[in-house]
Amino acid sequence: MPDTIGILLAAGKGTRMKSKTPKVLHPLLGQPMLAYALQAVATATGRRPIVVVGHAAEQVQAAFADQAAFALQDPPLGTGHAVQAARAAVPEGIRWVLVSNGDMPLLTADTLRRLLEAQQAHDGPITMLTVEVDDPRGFGRVVRFPDGRVQAIVEEADATDEQKRIRELNVGAYCFDADWLWQALPRVPLSAKGEYYLTDLVGLAVAEGHSVQALRLEDPTEAIGVNTRVHLAEAAAALQQRINRRLMENGVTLIDPARTYIEPTVRIGRDTVVWPDCTLRGNTEIGEDCEIGPNAYIVDTQIGNGCRVFASVLEYAVLEDHVDIGPFGHLRKGAHLAEGVHMGNFGEVKNSYLGPGVKMGHFSYIGDATIGESVNIGAGTITCNYDGERKHPTKIGKGAFIGSDTMLVAPLEIGEGARTGAGAVVTKNVPPYTLAVGVPARVIRKLKPPHQSA
Ligand code: UD1
Ligand code: MG
Repeated sequence: MPDTIGILLAAGKGTRMKSKTPKVLHPLLGQPMLAYALQAVATATGRRPIVVVGHAAEQVQAAFADQAAFALQDPPLGTGHAVQAARAAVPEGIRWVLVSNGDMPLLTADTLRRLLEAQQAHDGPITMLTVEVDDPRGFGRVVRFPDGRVQAIVEEADATDEQKRIRELNVGAYCFDADWLWQALPRVPLSAKGEYYLTDLVGLAVAEGHSVQALRLEDPTEAIGVNTRVHLAEAAAALQQRINRRLMENGVTLIDPARTYIEPTVRIGRDTVVWPDCTLRGNTEIGEDCEIGPNAYIVDTQIGNGCRVFASVLEYAVLEDHVDIGPFGHLRKGAHLAEGVHMGNFGEVKNSYLGPGVKMGHFSYIGDATIGESVNIGAGTITCNYDGERKHPTKIGKGAFIGSDTMLVAPLEIGEGARTGAGAVVTKNVPPYTLAVGVPARVIRKLKPPHQSA
């Protein structure tokens, strides 16, 4: 919509958060709170919004540098003053201005689009979003004439006892006719609190004989505004429910939805089951028919189909299909487990490729290694990849059998089909189809390859 722009108000201090971090940068399911509002407004209007910043302006600007234009409001003298501060950043030819508080992360693009369309079809200068709930949470009250027409918004601080009983609340999202907005804003009076309230525009329009339209929210959770950390937790719970519902509707089983933490960026395939107490974060993608948890912490990890991850920590890793890990496994950055890898108790893998069918059942550390197909890694095997100064690689050929408690002192190559004895400390390369034992390990005999090789 070329003639529409969104303005997000985010200059307030957020005093009630009691935090060093600006309110709109507090993370909500992995993303700064303002990211949600930004996305919703950008989607509804089809262009980058203007964000009004003031308190900690540089920090907020840096966090969203490429997603918005910014207007500085300093000092912050109220929401009406904030919109005025954005005016200079509004391009020519704009006919409708969508204004929304930056502290409402659950408002959807759909709702904002409906608000916009309602105003475009309306004769008066304002359409505002309202909600009816039992707990007014300090929101502005929507005062109506006896015939039902909107009369004004009254802030809680200025409301009479009777007005305080009103249950229709101002959500804090509005669509204005641009020409009317710019000529009316300078006429907003200073409130008793010393602020210019955007909400006073409603009474002003009505006094001029205009009609103000109210669009009611269907889902009151969209109106959750965050002023305190209690509200932040409420917003997180509501957002989580939304994510969980979407996942379940798309064929994912959540055994106990209330006990999962799944960020909105995570994708999960059909017929995957997520057990309780899982934390799934960031750019994580999980395939179909997997079993995840209980107790899994997974961040930025790609998981194929038919995998099982039980009580394990997976960070920046890749699992191909039918990988089975845990309990108590730890995949670190650059771990790549090919199809059918089995990694049992207390394994740790960092920056390594484990080929198809590798078995690593118990207590092992594999770092900076490339491990061929069907290698068996005995209990307690360690790649000694660090000499105190530098990291060194280990290569193990396919079908090798690493005996329990083998120390592989890198840089090192173990040939295809080779074996090491239990407790070996291997400091020299072991040729293919050769058995090495002892401390340090020495070659004691050649082995017979399974197939005749050239
Ligand atoms: C505001 C509304 C209230 C509504 C409620 C919904 C006004 C006067 N009141 O109250 O009717 O029910 O939101 O949540 O608008 N901000 C600025 N500059 C300022 C002041 C605020 O950018 O000078 C920003 C804040 O950062 C925040 C938003 O505007 O994102 C709303 O401000 P806040 O102080 O939270 O207003 P409420 O008291 O919640
Ligand atoms: Mg607020």
